[in-house]
Amino acid sequence: MATLRPRIRAVPLRPVLLFLLVPLIYSVSRLHPWSPEKGVCLPPPTAPKRPDHLVLGPAAGQGRHDRLQCHGLKALNNIGISSDRNYSGEHISFVTVFTTYGSVPDGDGKVPSDTVTVGNHSYSKIERSMAILNTFTNFIKVSMPRSNVIILTDPDSKFSVNQGSATLMPIEGNYSRGNLMLQRIKSYIAFLEQKLVEFDRVEGFNHFVLTDSDIAVVDDLGHIFKKYPHCHLALTFRNNKGQPLNSGFVAIRGTRDGITKAVAFFKQVLEAYNLKYMKASRMLGDQLALAWVVKSHLPSALRKFSKHEAFTGEVNGASVLFLPCAVYNWTPPEGAGQFHGMPLDVKVVHFKGSRKRLMLEAWNFYNSTSKLSDMMCLILRSGRTKYDF
Ligand SMILES: *[C@@H]1O[C@H](CO)[C@@H](O)[C@H](O)[C@H]1NC(C)=O
Ligand SMILES: *[C@@H]1O[C@H](CO)[C@@H](O)[C@H](O)[C@H]1NC(C)=O
Ligand SMILES: *[C@@H]1O[C@H](CO)[C@@H](O)[C@H](O)[C@H]1NC(C)=O
Ligand SMILES: *[C@@H]1O[C@H](CO)[C@@H](O)[C@H](O)[C@H]1NC(C)=O
Repeated sequence: MATLRPRIRAVPLRPVLLFLLVPLIYSVSRLHPWSPEKGVCLPPPTAPKRPDHLVLGPAAGQGRHDRLQCHGLKALNNIGISSDRNYSGEHISFVTVFTTYGSVPDGDGKVPSDTVTVGNHSYSKIERSMAILNTFTNFIKVSMPRSNVIILTDPDSKFSVNQGSATLMPIEGNYSRGNLMLQRIKSYIAFLEQKLVEFDRVEGFNHFVLTDSDIAVVDDLGHIFKKYPHCHLALTFRNNKGQPLNSGFVAIRGTRDGITKAVAFFKQVLEAYNLKYMKASRMLGDQLALAWVVKSHLPSALRKFSKHEAFTGEVNGASVLFLPCAVYNWTPPEGAGQFHGMPLDVKVVHFKGSRKRLMLEAWNFYNSTSKLSDMMCLILRSGRTKYDF
């Protein structure tokens, strides 16, 4: 009986711009909310106009027992938090880097004036970025209600977050756009070093997941730390020779040992970045440096990246857990890539590249229906489309 809902756009929207908005704000996601994947800032002038509304295609993976099955937008499986209210009990702080700019960003002397509409709400470029940060936090509140969000930011940036939804932590540095990915590693290191200093003063401990802000956490991630008690940190891998590791998700065990090893690891990545990948610094340098460090300590990892199973290995004294992107950093492939659907155990959806609209649409859908599994059908069916932002 489930029918397709053709009028997704009319789903009531109550998304809450919880934030005060200021001149120009940009998310420090590698894949900038309104940039195409390859790191170019604007689509070429000849690029066809991208859809400004949800486009639903077929649901890949139908008939496969280990993939989400959908009838229209009705999920036939339970997926995400709805499938298992079995919280691990672990406390996790999600840490993301986000900053604001007081001046014009694109170097063309124009303040962006284009707005997009999602549901009943219009967003300027600035507001989109804040809405994505906000939605990132909303998903975490739903799927991991005991967790908190920490936003590492430029002390000069001027934005605020709603009390209680996230904590801002200013960290000195050069957050200019050309330096963002390098600065992100530096900010991570500064943050973790501060956690080490505070370690004995703070009661109990949190694990950390350092992420891009364009992700939706749809299941409890605490199980990572329970199931692999000896790992210090976790990275996500995929079967992609050029870029086998995604830097948009790094989990760190919140013990003194875990944090210390993570700091040492990031320092190595930073060094490799500075030495070898500065030319790529704008977008991919951190990812290339990450892969270089892993490969140079653990060449055997390369073979395992083509499989789907998690594995562990030692990288410069740290025990590193490698998690498949298919579960912990899931993005449908763009274009003609093979696509077998959405694994039933997916825990993190990454709205890379031009999928930021889908992130907001998905939240609005969930917010108005409370049906997380159905929302996953929506994501599955529309995730291959490149949207207007
Ligand atoms: C959004 O628009 C729809 C259709 O116009 C309306 O029914 C709904 O109440 C609106 N939602 C909000 C939150 O204003
Ligand atoms: C809850 O998760 C743990 C592993 O973290 C597992 O051992 C246990 O069987 C699960 N309980 C239920 C009811 O699913
Ligand atoms: C920050 O980094 C950018 C890009 O690498 C560089 O052009 C700029 O000079 C740096 N600013 C400062 C204050 O170091
Ligand atoms: C939807 O958003 C409203 C307003 O922010 C909130 O009160 C409500 O709990 C949300 N519903 C769900 C299912 O998250």
